[in-house]
Amino acid sequence: MNKSKLNVAIIGLGTVGSGVIKLLKRQKNNIKNRTGIELELVAISAKNKRKKRSIDISPYRWIASPITIARDPDVDVIVELIGDMDNTARKVIKEAINNGKHIVTANKSLLAKEGSSFEELAKKKSVFLRYEAAVAGGIPIIKVLQDSLIVNKISKLYGVINGTCNFILTKMEAEGREYTDVFSEAQQLGYVESDPRLDIGGIDSAHKLALLSCLAFGTSLDLKGVKTEGIDHISIEDIDEAHLIGYKIKLLATAEYQKKLLRQEVSPKLIRKDSPIAQVNGSTNIIAIEGEEIGTTIFSGPGAGMGPTASSVVSDLVAIASRKSKSTFLNGDKNFSGKRDKTLTKESSFYLRFVLKDKPGVIARLSGKLGSCGISINQMKQKPLPKQKATLIMTTHKTVRKNLEKALNDIRRLKICEQRPVSIEIEEI
Ligand SMILES: NC(=O)c1ccc[n+]([C@@H]2O[C@H](COP(=O)([O-])OP(=O)(O)OC[C@H]3O[C@@H](n4cnc5c(N)ncnc54)[C@H](OP(=O)(O)O)[C@@H]3O)[C@@H](O)[C@H]2O)c1
Repeated sequence: MNKSKLNVAIIGLGTVGSGVIKLLKRQKNNIKNRTGIELELVAISAKNKRKKRSIDISPYRWIASPITIARDPDVDVIVELIGDMDNTARKVIKEAINNGKHIVTANKSLLAKEGSSFEELAKKKSVFLRYEAAVAGGIPIIKVLQDSLIVNKISKLYGVINGTCNFILTKMEAEGREYTDVFSEAQQLGYVESDPRLDIGGIDSAHKLALLSCLAFGTSLDLKGVKTEGIDHISIEDIDEAHLIGYKIKLLATAEYQKKLLRQEVSPKLIRKDSPIAQVNGSTNIIAIEGEEIGTTIFSGPGAGMGPTASSVVSDLVAIASRKSKSTFLNGDKNFSGKRDKTLTKESSFYLRFVLKDKPGVIARLSGKLGSCGISINQMKQKPLPKQKATLIMTTHKTVRKNLEKALNDIRRLKICEQRPVSIEIEEI
């Protein structure tokens, strides 16, 4: 490979792929003038050649089979922007690396599952594997962890890294609308993945968190170790009640490494309104990193979309052409002695909402179960509902989640609840 010229092939011409073509065209001269690097788009591929697109693809060589591109001797780097809906992306990446091609991908789902094996193969074949766009779209968080913060011992990383959930929660709060209503609007606007569980079930955040915690703590990729809960049980009532006691509800991704225990979690949390995390609205992402030397550093910006994501992809191409950092950091430290924290021993306060049968003695029985699990109530209020029902809202003093889960199971068995109780941790950040 001539250092100053890189022959690029793009597979996948959807939102991100089209954005990359536009950006390469618009910025070609600028990139050359500022870095001396020439990025030449030599081939493209997608599923359907005849599909109407927002870009003119006629100047580029179309190759129908992604695997053929992965073997093309004229191509230096494959930009994989297909997604993880079938096995194609995985096959393309492996084939391309085996043929000595560098890889740029935004495929967080595939990386969270197969990143370590890709890294091993890339090392063996002495090629680059870069994936800046895979986490937080336009925020250059991967480079920050691989490069700028490399001398920092990082103890905690947390943030809002799924724009769709943040859009839904922000709209519910701003417009006083129920979850199902705002979710339908998000779907109509094309904000929700074709499999909605990826977004609203917290799985997309879990993919990104697994990548980030591996980079931050030098652990191996451990997607299965991410405790994951989505937002579909959050009601406008929870958002309003949180507001009354000074909090907002956000889907928070948290990874913490303490006393050789790694805790990775994606779940809705009550966050104090004045926290920078609570200020992030709509599809914006935010990530806070606590490092030994830097203290807390916060990164915020567009977490998705054509322009921001394409910007990250093209920056990876420039880095490859400049031969910057070959390590992908996805394989962790083989000597890492940390263990997953599965014990749920972290102490927190919780917000709880119960819809109860409105009968004498019900609250006493419920409080009894909480008390017998060592949970003490901080604040409590009751609101009558029609049809002999009542809502009971409370916050607890600090307790471990294990105790709370036992109490909630015991309460469910009392058959006094009209629906599954809602419990949301209060995160003081
Ligand atoms: N959109 C974002 O804001 C964003 C942000 C960060 C990361 N990402 C990641 O970036 C990747 C691309 O996302 P996107 O939003 O651009 O997806 P998209 O709009 O759905 O586009 C997917 C593209 O892949 C092509 N494709 C699908 N299956 C294929 C196959 N078997 N062989 C060849 N081409 C195939 C499609 O072809 P046709 O056009 O012919 O149908 C389409 O051009 C995903 O991994 C996603 O998770 C996206």
